[in-house]
Amino acid sequence: MPEAPEIKPSILVIFGITGDLAKRKVLPALYHLCKDRLLPEGTKVIGISRRDVPLEEILDTVNLCVMEKDNICDPEVISRLRSWVSMFKLDPLSDDDYEHLKRHLNDLEQAAKQCMDRLFYLSIPPQVYSPIIQKMGQHGLNASCDHNQAKVRLMIEKPFGHDVTSAEFLVNETEKVFTEEQIFRIDHYLAKETAQNILRFRRHNPVFSSQWNSRHIRRIHVMAKEKIGIENRINFYEQVGAMRDLIQSHLMQLLSLTAMHLPAELNSEDIHAAKHAFMQSLIPPGTEGKSISNQVVRGQYDSYREEVANPHSSTETFVSLLLKSSDPDWEGTTFQLTTGKSLDEKLTQIQVQFGDRDPNILSLRIQPDEGIDINLLIEQPGFTHNLRQVRLNFSYSQDFDTINHDAYERVLVDAIRGERLLFATKMEVLTSWHLLQPIINSWQNQSDDLKFYAAGSRGPSILKLNRQEF
Ligand code: BG6
Repeated sequence: MPEAPEIKPSILVIFGITGDLAKRKVLPALYHLCKDRLLPEGTKVIGISRRDVPLEEILDTVNLCVMEKDNICDPEVISRLRSWVSMFKLDPLSDDDYEHLKRHLNDLEQAAKQCMDRLFYLSIPPQVYSPIIQKMGQHGLNASCDHNQAKVRLMIEKPFGHDVTSAEFLVNETEKVFTEEQIFRIDHYLAKETAQNILRFRRHNPVFSSQWNSRHIRRIHVMAKEKIGIENRINFYEQVGAMRDLIQSHLMQLLSLTAMHLPAELNSEDIHAAKHAFMQSLIPPGTEGKSISNQVVRGQYDSYREEVANPHSSTETFVSLLLKSSDPDWEGTTFQLTTGKSLDEKLTQIQVQFGDRDPNILSLRIQPDEGIDINLLIEQPGFTHNLRQVRLNFSYSQDFDTINHDAYERVLVDAIRGERLLFATKMEVLTSWHLLQPIINSWQNQSDDLKFYAAGSRGPSILKLNRQEF
């Protein structure tokens, strides 16, 4: 049994319990947390939905045990989980319903004889965040029953806005009701096992920490290749595309963890400040006399237009992008972010390239086969002095047999206990949008540069970027 974090019984209110994300990720994560006793008895989960939905309809139709061996659920855990969860019908525009919800929460707390921490989780499309948050504010759902001794928190899913303006709007609207300390913006890539290892790996391995600057590192390449396409998320993806979906959030976060200055203490506040400082040091594409088209390649897989039934769609399903930092410690280092759908493999990794000719490439593998490897040049045995590449490899699955927690389990646990490290701050979100906005704008005006690639292939050529002395 893993060591359980100290958590008080809390109330988790999930808006959108009948939605796809709740079914695929959130409910299975809750099952697991219940099974591993990582959430205490007395935890309450309230599933909000617009219609009257019986709890059975949710629990019986969702594959709660998708992460278990052979998908088999433990009946004892299911029955415990059942006793935690109840459903609540709410029309997001009805003032009466918010009042009922408030009374319902108060009743639960009275029965438990304590004010409990409350976490409101908006697992719903971001377009509807704003009116719901406003109503929560109007009905006092942003405060606990004991003048905020018990905590009230709001957890929201990306995308946090669509561009700089809408992100600022969302930040402002949310801030009218909740303070920044109350807001938990999920970036589930930060909760992946190997992403969490990055900072301590950098700090505690002097062989790398002494070399972690532009004198030694030529390029850092963060890539998230996906085999899957857009999987029926047609409307969502047509409006979003790869830049907004992965680069603006997950990949920018991973890059920042890899390249930020390590603060003296690895606490949440200092880490967020250092990540943000690194993002701010990145030079917006298209400035300093550089042409945006030399810095970015965008692509679309060949069957995409047919899939979305839009023969003129210019939505990108692939992006590779080069960035530079104005931080003197990174002068000359190239940062590259690459992502794409319908590619030949699922692979998320961060490659840190030491040296130019015959480089050593340190790969931090986020998924699958989580681990770390580095290639080295060695002299081949025999009478010649020929060199050969060899690979030193560490793999989590070989060296650890601990239970691997899914990113959503960590996200839930940390939001419930108020740990902010895994969540994006408003400054990170806004700075990332500001940085990428020039590219998004340039794409709006033309689509000549869109490169088509065969679904299942390695994607469009990015040779132009790889060769670039940028
Ligand atoms: C989500 C994106 O944030 O991350 C999806 O919206 C993407 O488009 C997904 O497929 C990838 O997550 P993971 O954990 O499967 O790598």
